[in-house]
Amino acid sequence: MIVLGIETSCDETAAAIVQDGRRVLHSTIASQLALHQPFKGVVPELASRAHVERINDVIEKALSTHRRIDAIAVTTGPGLIGCLLVGTVTARMLAWVKKIPIVGVNHLEGHLFAGLVEHPRLRPPFLGLIVSGGHTELVIFKDYGRYQKLGSTRDDAAGEAFDKVANLLDLPFPGGPSVDKAAHTGNPAAVAFPRAWIPGTHDFSFSGLKTSVRNYLWDTPVRKRPAVADLAASFQEAVVDVLVEKTMRAAESHGFSSIVVGGGVAANSRLRAAFRQAARENKVHVYLPDLSFCTDNAAMIAAAGYFKLKRGLPRNARLTVNANLEIANWTH
Ligand code: KG4
Ligand code: ZN
Repeated sequence: MIVLGIETSCDETAAAIVQDGRRVLHSTIASQLALHQPFKGVVPELASRAHVERINDVIEKALSTHRRIDAIAVTTGPGLIGCLLVGTVTARMLAWVKKIPIVGVNHLEGHLFAGLVEHPRLRPPFLGLIVSGGHTELVIFKDYGRYQKLGSTRDDAAGEAFDKVANLLDLPFPGGPSVDKAAHTGNPAAVAFPRAWIPGTHDFSFSGLKTSVRNYLWDTPVRKRPAVADLAASFQEAVVDVLVEKTMRAAESHGFSSIVVGGGVAANSRLRAAFRQAARENKVHVYLPDLSFCTDNAAMIAAAGYFKLKRGLPRNARLTVNANLEIANWTH
């Protein structure tokens, strides 16, 4: 079955064609980076308008590689409501014209399917860690479409912390990749920023860490501060320590030997290295999607949609967008 995936939940307009949920035949992403750069963050109204301007081209480009598609999968949430509407309205129209089924996909679920797309032999159940700009969630991927949330952030998402700290350090938007790059030459032990372990839970917290970086900058005269690279590396190390350690503990306590990490922060070079090392030490498999499938893309949406259609779920059901869609109990 050939599925066209459409993703417009935030600032990437994306379309992809995936065969049988595992083989990516085509993937196009039109980034709005330059548009939002001057504002150091995604401006929702500009993002929706940019999706309107780009979506036809992006879909046309995908369809020009494979005219025959059997179904459409589109992100229905979570995300920016105006952006989600552009994707779902366009997808519904196309499905109606082509007289093919359409399914809604949870964006967070999609981030875990990025790992499945990349690793054809991987099968559920496994433990999933979603680390994106808006979410940090530990999820048990019991089966396709059956998820149980173990923990999530109580305040800022990991990606949000990267973005906010990049701002504090005067690094360019988007913050995550800038901190990652700056940290390459930095000393991760330069400043001992705090780690929020929140014992006894699988929850995370990153806002205290962000505040601690801000207070450090306020309290330390410029001439006494370590280099930006050292500050970036020290902050990044604190995020990575918590994400890796808490994920490993969750895997151990729930008996999982396969872990999938997805979302934009999964592109972080230090996080990837730390997960690879922890995988060796703990004798577990950690699946890290290729960088292009960590950040938002439509291949992961097409893959999730394929497995949903394969389960024979209601076709052509009304698609309802939900800016705050949860992954917990997203059972279909
Ligand atoms: O998954 P994603 O593309 O969009 C959302 O669903 O939010 O994630 C975007 C987030 C942003 O916060 C961005 O700064 C972060 O992922 N990010 C990174 C890196 N690349 C993207 N964070 C740390 N290191 C990176 N290399
Ligand atoms: Zn995302």
